[in-house]
Amino acid sequence: MLVDASNALLAWYDANRRDLPWRAMPGESSDPYRVWLSEIMLQQTTVAAVGPYFHKFITYWPTMRALAEADEADVMKAWAGLGYYARARNLIACARTIVARHGGRFPDSEAELLQLPGVGRYTAAAVAAIAFGRRAVVVDGNVERVVARLFAVKEPLPGAKAKLYDLTDSITPARRNGDFAQAMMDLGATICTPRKPACGFCPLATLCAARAEGDPARYPVKTPK
Ligand code: ADE
Repeated sequence: MLVDASNALLAWYDANRRDLPWRAMPGESSDPYRVWLSEIMLQQTTVAAVGPYFHKFITYWPTMRALAEADEADVMKAWAGLGYYARARNLIACARTIVARHGGRFPDSEAELLQLPGVGRYTAAAVAAIAFGRRAVVVDGNVERVVARLFAVKEPLPGAKAKLYDLTDSITPARRNGDFAQAMMDLGATICTPRKPACGFCPLATLCAARAEGDPARYPVKTPK
């Protein structure tokens, strides 16, 4: 399962990857600053909504150092409309910490990343995998849905979070970690969608336990509110 699922997913990603502004071209290395900035923006905000903001930030503040030296009011103004303003305040705090404590360069381990302002478990794993190619278990809402279906997890969310994390770990390959993480997120965003998943196009369809049962959209199971 592990090798089958990750190989199928990576082959699908090679053919179908979305060309997003913060993604490096295949074979190019990614800029940790761009990866981090995009991942902070993408929390609670869609890819489509983030695009223009990402361009604006990269134009005004093309490097971590530039952002660290920015006027806080200018950054808050540029962020206006994205919501969850604590993210913007943490953005500046994180840039300043990286300049003050890490010589302006991102640390490359999950443990060090987790120490930075505004960087939680998801962001640390995403930056470690996407920017540094580290093996990290990257789980967001899209990934939870894909994995809940792949393994037909009967336990409801949010209680199932630890289990979904472990199952994601079990299919995370040792190579191409950033691609794997982004492929899982793309699959969840475009094919393994909350309602009416397009299983006919899914590279994992033949491995998917929820599909075999006949009603994949019933996963992830949620505790009634
Ligand atoms: N959502 C959050 N981060 C993402 C990424 N790197 N690619 C696609 N969707 C995402």
